[in-house]
Formats: sequence, C-alpha cells, structure tokens
Amino acid sequence: MPDATFHFPRGFLWGTATAAHQVEGNNSNNNWWDWENQPGHIINGQKSLNACDWWGGRWQEDFDRAADGGQNAHRLSVEWSRIQPTPDSWDENALEKYLEMLRGLHVRNILPMVTLHHFTDPLWITDLGGWENPRIVQYFEKFVRKTVGTLKESVNLWCTINEPNVYVLESYLAGHFPPGKKDIKLARQVMANMVRGHAAAYKTIHEIQPEARVGYALHYRPVIPARNWNPLDRLAARLHYKGINMAFPSAISDGVMKSPLGNDRIAEAKDTQDYLGLNFYSTFHVKFDLSNPGEFFTTAYFPKGSDLSDSGFNANTPEGLFQSVKWAVRTYPGLPIIITENGIECADDHIRPRYIAQHIRQLWRAVNYNWPVKGYFHWSLVDNFEWERGWSQRFGLWALDPETQERSKRPSADLYAEICKENGLSSHMVRKYCPEIFDEMFPV
Ligand code: FCB
Repeated sequence: MPDATFHFPRGFLWGTATAAHQVEGNNSNNNWWDWENQPGHIINGQKSLNACDWWGGRWQEDFDRAADGGQNAHRLSVEWSRIQPTPDSWDENALEKYLEMLRGLHVRNILPMVTLHHFTDPLWITDLGGWENPRIVQYFEKFVRKTVGTLKESVNLWCTINEPNVYVLESYLAGHFPPGKKDIKLARQVMANMVRGHAAAYKTIHEIQPEARVGYALHYRPVIPARNWNPLDRLAARLHYKGINMAFPSAISDGVMKSPLGNDRIAEAKDTQDYLGLNFYSTFHVKFDLSNPGEFFTTAYFPKGSDLSDSGFNANTPEGLFQSVKWAVRTYPGLPIIITENGIECADDHIRPRYIAQHIRQLWRAVNYNWPVKGYFHWSLVDNFEWERGWSQRFGLWALDPETQERSKRPSADLYAEICKENGLSSHMVRKYCPEIFDEMFPV
C-alpha cells in the first residue's frame, strides 16, 4: 500500500470563502432582498432571511469552527448597503461590527481577505441604474475609500469585485440575477464599468494603504468543444471562452477590454492587480446552439457520465484547476495566484471528499512547477444562501438548517481540517475519506 504526502509550501493559505449576503441575514437594503421578495425569482420562492445569522453574532461560532479546523485564512465580504445605507450616510456601527469580525479572525490566527463587492448593490445604487450608470465608478470609489480607510488596521488583502463576469452573465445575459435583463449591449457597458470601478478601487486602496495587496476574483472556466470535429462547436467554444473568461483579464493586461462584442479602451485598468484570484468550479463542454443567441449561440453543459453535484450545477473535473492555474501563469508570469473559490454542492457529502482531494492534488501539481500559488479558499465554510438557487444547494463543509440555525459537521470538514493542519494531503487521508479514488491517486 503506497504511503505518500503531497506537501505545500510553508505559509500556504488554507481557508474557506463566504459572502455577506449569503451568510449575514437581513440584508434588507440591497437589490437581492428586493429580488427575493418578488415571485418567481428564487427556486421554491425561498429567501435569504436570517441566512447563517452572522449579523446576529453567529460568525463567532463559525469562526471557531474554521479555527478548530486548522484554517489560517478566511475570505469574507462586506455589504455596501449596510455601510452606506444612503448616498449621504455612513453607518459607523456597521463598520464597527465588521472590525469586530476581523479582529475575531485575527485572535483565532486567521488572516482575513476582504471582498468589497460580491454581487449585491445597495437599493439606492439600483435606483440610479446600478452598474449601467457610468457614475457608479465614483460611487464605488467613495465607498471603497471609506471602508478601506476604516478597516485597514485589520486587513491588507483586498478583493475589489467578485466574479464580475458572472455578475454580467447572470444579470444582463441569462437574467437570473437582478435586474434580470437580457441585453448584450448593456452587458458590455456594465462590464466596462466594472473594469473602471475595479481600477479606481485599486488606486484608492494603494493610496490609503501602500502595502495592501489588491486583486479581484475571476470566475475562470476552461471549455472544451463538445464535438471537436465540428467547426461550429469549436467556434462556439472559442466565443464562450472569450466571452466568459477574457474581458476582465484583457483589460488588466493591456488596458483594452476585449470581448466577442468588441473592444473598449480602458487604459487606467492596465496592471491593476497584485495577485489574481481564481474561482474554479468546473470545466464545461460547449456546443453551438442556434436557440441561444443571448449567450453568443453557445450552450455550456457537462457530458453524460460526469461526476455531478446534487442538482447538476457543477461537475468534478479536477484537472481544470491545474489548467486554470497554468493559464494564469502564462498570462501573468510571476503574479501570485490565489484560489479564491472552489467547491461543490452536495448535501450528503458523497462527492465532496473526493472533489476536495482531487482538486488539492491538482493544485499540488501546480505548486510543484514553482508556480506562485499562495492559497486556497474552499467554498464554503457552512451552507449558505445560494442566490437564485436559494437553499437548494449545499456547499458547506458544515451543514446548516436555516430554520433552527443548527450546524452539523460533514465528513469533508474533517478531511479539510486534516489537510490544513498537515499543510498537505496524504494517502492516509484519501484512504480514510474517499477510498474510491485511492488507486487512481496513488497507483503502484
Ligand atoms: C460563485 C459565487 C459564490 C457562490 C458559488 C457557489 O459563483 O461567487 O457566491 O454562489 O458560486
């Protein structure tokens, strides 16, 4: 029986990721709360309500869980609508509460990484046209200035915007997120404004805190043409890849945002990242689809026989994580990379242990090329409100009953704790938590 350990470099960050609206509860002053309260938007009419009740104080017990589980980092987001409830007011109590949470991480020896925008917008911003309105750049900059100025004693690792590409895709092409539009022209405009907002935030944060490390989190999706012999599928895969993945990275590489819709010059965005945050969930197969003009005549799916999550939302395709890091290293040589999200929805935890083990192994391969991967954040610490999918998807290492607020530990929490504490993944762990992949992971 082989006995091996895949070790990671000293100081590697091991954590979980969360987002304000998904865990805090009662975020009633943002566009998502509004959206949840209109019929037909969320699966089974579910609402975030108390979420994981972090705003009510349960962050304490969840941070204890993270610390007991050997995590040395945590990625969380702050809620703009709490901090700036109206254009002309700041809620100092909300900021104080965030400071308390951040100090709560430090006393547990957990390094905070803070996201400034994770999908939600204050209602007053929505009323002004949200990210469609070019003035959003100034509004976002003002919010960032205040927030970073206040929280800087406790944070120096910042993520400006989470998955701007998913925000645009879901809000302006697929229509699943508010404002539920399907408008290619607006999609391009909003993406460009998000690039501008990011660039402004990058500069402002460095002005306030020169030692800060600032980046954003890109949802990166490797794609494979469904039928490689079919030129239309190959074209569809290229369009999908470019449309989903490349707009933000191209703007940051050379100040020109490139997408299948055209190029926009945004010179101020060039070189505005100190690391790249990668959210990787799955590799997609893409085929040409005349019935889907809204997504460039492409449809993305997982082929039959994939190792699928409960609802088929994501597939276990670990090699894709290696490819994502490889793409990042080639695109930005020398730039630190952080896996800002990776996970799978699975209530009974039958896939998650192997998903974690196989992805960590692919990350270890990347690290062994001396590629500068600095950390890994699993999505998520505890089940939370999954946007338009409500409570139907369970991504947590810990299960949550949102009604009673009771948490229960999934086996994956123990596996992940062993990985964090060992700073590596061992054959012993694989044998214990996911024996079904042992021979494949450790062939003799
Ligand atoms: C990502 C989001 C995160 C969570 C996971 C499952 O796209 O950033 O908030 O919903 O998917």
